[in-house]
Amino acid sequence: MSRETLIDLLYLFSATTFLLALKGLGSPKRARLGNAVAALGMLVAVVATFFKYVDGHPLHHVGLIILGMAIGTVVAVPVARFVQMTAMPQLVAIFNGVGGGAAALVSITEFVHIKSSHPATYVTLEVLLGVLIGTVSFSGSAIAFAKLQELMTGRPVTYPGQQVINAAFGLGALVLIVIILVGSSTLLLWILLALAFVLGIAFVLPIGGADVPVLISLLNSFTGLAVAASGFTLGSNLLIVAGTLVGASGILLTRLMSAAMGRSLANVLFSAFGSVVTASGQGDGADARPVRSGSPQDAAVLLSYASRVVIIPGYGLAVAQAQHVVRELAEILEGRGIEVFFAIHPVAGRMPGHMNVLLAEANVPYEQLKEMDEANSELQTAEVALVVGANDTVNPAAKDDPSSPIYGMPIINADLAENVLFLKRSMRPGFAGIENELLYNPKTTLIFGDAKDTLTKIVAAVKLT
Ligand code: TAP
Repeated sequence: MSRETLIDLLYLFSATTFLLALKGLGSPKRARLGNAVAALGMLVAVVATFFKYVDGHPLHHVGLIILGMAIGTVVAVPVARFVQMTAMPQLVAIFNGVGGGAAALVSITEFVHIKSSHPATYVTLEVLLGVLIGTVSFSGSAIAFAKLQELMTGRPVTYPGQQVINAAFGLGALVLIVIILVGSSTLLLWILLALAFVLGIAFVLPIGGADVPVLISLLNSFTGLAVAASGFTLGSNLLIVAGTLVGASGILLTRLMSAAMGRSLANVLFSAFGSVVTASGQGDGADARPVRSGSPQDAAVLLSYASRVVIIPGYGLAVAQAQHVVRELAEILEGRGIEVFFAIHPVAGRMPGHMNVLLAEANVPYEQLKEMDEANSELQTAEVALVVGANDTVNPAAKDDPSSPIYGMPIINADLAENVLFLKRSMRPGFAGIENELLYNPKTTLIFGDAKDTLTKIVAAVKLT
């Protein structure tokens, strides 16, 4: 078997592992295995590439490549290991941006290479698409990172004529691509690069708040497409397969997230959702409507005498790192014959699967995690809905108030339970910045405090009950 055939077979193996990995990632039980399978496939692909001959020669600059990989490893491994679960979206944003930037660099290098070695050859479309999409993904992800890391305002940044200007940038980039295809001008390539950079920033600026994670998923899909374009440029089937998988799964995830928020993708991208905060949405409790607050002991009594308890986790559970203590509470209640399950909203938290991952990490059995629809069908018969650091995902305005910005978003119907225990620190609103009527509902008891502290006190009190 020739060297080339062997390398192609290894690439085929890698491509297959990527497909199997996606299958594994589809279920919490097999997600870790799926990840490991993809990592193995990637390792095989990288090692095989070192043995590849390019234009009849062994790989050049092996030392430099290894140095680059070493630097990348030293930077990325500690960051990935020690990142807080709550900061995952920005980590994904930055990794994604780097991927898009790398794909754009490959395309630029190839353009310069083609022009210097075969000046008469015309560059092909995929090289220019790689530059455009990869650079948009790079600069757009950088702004998304800055928003999530609170290096700049997380709200939409808007100005008059914004959409027209953005459309002009996009159209300008496409016209440039056509001109470069005809004339192969290197100067115009640099102008395209600059325009793509600005377009990425301009595209992301008006998207803010709760929509940034959706945007990151879309940019992730862009990076996949840029990588696939690099694959065509370099004649690498593996890059084409990997890029297409990322592109397709990114766009599917984007659509799923938009649907889970009850909005169209166009609305997420172009409506500058959350740029205007309703007066009541400032949410510092200034309007001082009465609410009922209680103590952890009150909660313990209510929970101990229930026969069915539904726990509804949200972003605040992740912030408080309360996953272990909530599992302990669920175990104690179950031990007393009380039926307990967790109701998981698809966009609870700040990224897809956030709650599943947190609770799985704390060894909550998968059977106790119920998806939104299933959970909703059982909430009516629950004595207690225990809301832990969730807010928008249980806000009845989504079904009752057509003027609410979240109207139409499917929610967990905590309000259907006989009693609602709401664990949060203050009267501040959730991610979408809007008030939640459920806080004022007579059946709701608010227990103010950090979720982990409060749950620890509830566990202690339940043990005494
Ligand atoms: P949020 O609506 O953001 O509410 C979180 C609540 O947790 C807040 O009300 C906050 O109130 C409370 N909290 C924060 N830290 C806490 C702590 N240490 N202890 C106790 N409570 C704490 O969360 P959610 O219900 O999970 O909704 C998620 C939001 O993210 C939605 O708007 C959704 O559209 C958006 N989003 C999610 C995704 C994905 S894929 N997950 C994607 C895009 C958008 P206090 O400050 O008063 O404590």
